[in-house]
Amino acid sequence: MIRKIPTKNLKIGMFVADVGRAWFNHPWKTKSKYISDQNEIDELTRYGIDEVYIDTQKTLKSESGSKLTAKDFPYKPPEERTKPARVYLNPVQIKPDQVSAVEQELPKAAKAYNRALDTSKALVAACRMNKRIEVDAVQENVNELVESVSRNQDALTALIKLRRFDDYTYTHSLNVSVLSIASGKALGLNDADLRILGLGTMFHDLGKCRVPAFILNKPDKLSDEEFIIMKNHAALSAEILIEQKLPVDDLVIKVARHHHERMDGSGYPDRLEGADIPHLATICGLSDVYDALTSDRVYHTGMLPHDALKFIYGLRGTHFQPEWVDRFVQSVGIYPPGSVVELNTGHVAVVMEVNHDALLCPLIKIVAEPNGQLYSRPKLMDLSKTENRSYTIQAVITPKKAGFDPSYYFSVKGDE
Ligand SMILES: [Fe+2]
Ligand SMILES: [Fe+2]
Repeated sequence: MIRKIPTKNLKIGMFVADVGRAWFNHPWKTKSKYISDQNEIDELTRYGIDEVYIDTQKTLKSESGSKLTAKDFPYKPPEERTKPARVYLNPVQIKPDQVSAVEQELPKAAKAYNRALDTSKALVAACRMNKRIEVDAVQENVNELVESVSRNQDALTALIKLRRFDDYTYTHSLNVSVLSIASGKALGLNDADLRILGLGTMFHDLGKCRVPAFILNKPDKLSDEEFIIMKNHAALSAEILIEQKLPVDDLVIKVARHHHERMDGSGYPDRLEGADIPHLATICGLSDVYDALTSDRVYHTGMLPHDALKFIYGLRGTHFQPEWVDRFVQSVGIYPPGSVVELNTGHVAVVMEVNHDALLCPLIKIVAEPNGQLYSRPKLMDLSKTENRSYTIQAVITPKKAGFDPSYYFSVKGDE
């Protein structure tokens, strides 16, 4: 029999049939399992899950009928014991203090974004011509990004989504920088660390300017030899910074060198494992994978954010530490600002702001009637408000299908 009980009443041996949350918002790989130790109950509490559904028929009892302890628990997969050491962070309450509304922040964010995009182009050019990198200019841009994210992170993340038409070569590093600063903030980094992270991420793929274009842009699978050359770009990024004797923190160089290291040791160039990978490099790595998956390239259309996050979620516990993946998802949002969505009522809406406490209930602007007719006065709606509970997001609409430019509803149309 399925019964709903408070999480605090869970006992070892009980079978949780459903944690009542979607895949991205609970700590387990599956939504159901036997409770084998107190840590699993504590994990649920830490995620704010106060109630769960248990299957009373599946609750285990010891042979004598006495209370079960962790020692009695019959199932513990061996791979759980042999997992590489994890680095646990102190849990951080994710409550970005959004001091400005997204629409208020957008003009400032657009200025910072455009300036940083010009810098990103200059960076690639300098690197290709073996010229000195203007590190002060990059740092200045990064500081502006950090300030914008501190006021309202959704403005910059919306711009990333709305400015997809620019060349990936230039937008990628900037996007990774913005995503890293935003998720770094959600991980509780202070402004000094965020500035280091911002700079390291802007430089993370510099080494690609020394990788032949035919390998970089090859639409087909790389040969083993080509893959070795490609993989060398991370070490080259760090080398360029060292060669130029730039006055940057050591961590900036480490972010560049180690952004492809993975917690199970499967990454490169140094096959670092677990705690040996600098935290800032891991944040860069997550943002890097996300941006690469969601970006349109010459030879393929980018994945929808929801699908990309699901893919990254599958790397939880192997490539990336689970807690970090969770915070990353929470920071980016399942429906990032700028997404076009269809509601259960058939209305079409644009996501304006993520609700970081309830990812499925963002602040939206309803822009079209179910019959497709665009409203002249679109209506803002906070899906987390009780009075709006009957409205839910049913599907994400691709930019192509939407047939209108979502940036219009942010009152910025690319260049300010
Ligand atoms: Fe890279
Ligand atoms: Fe990258």
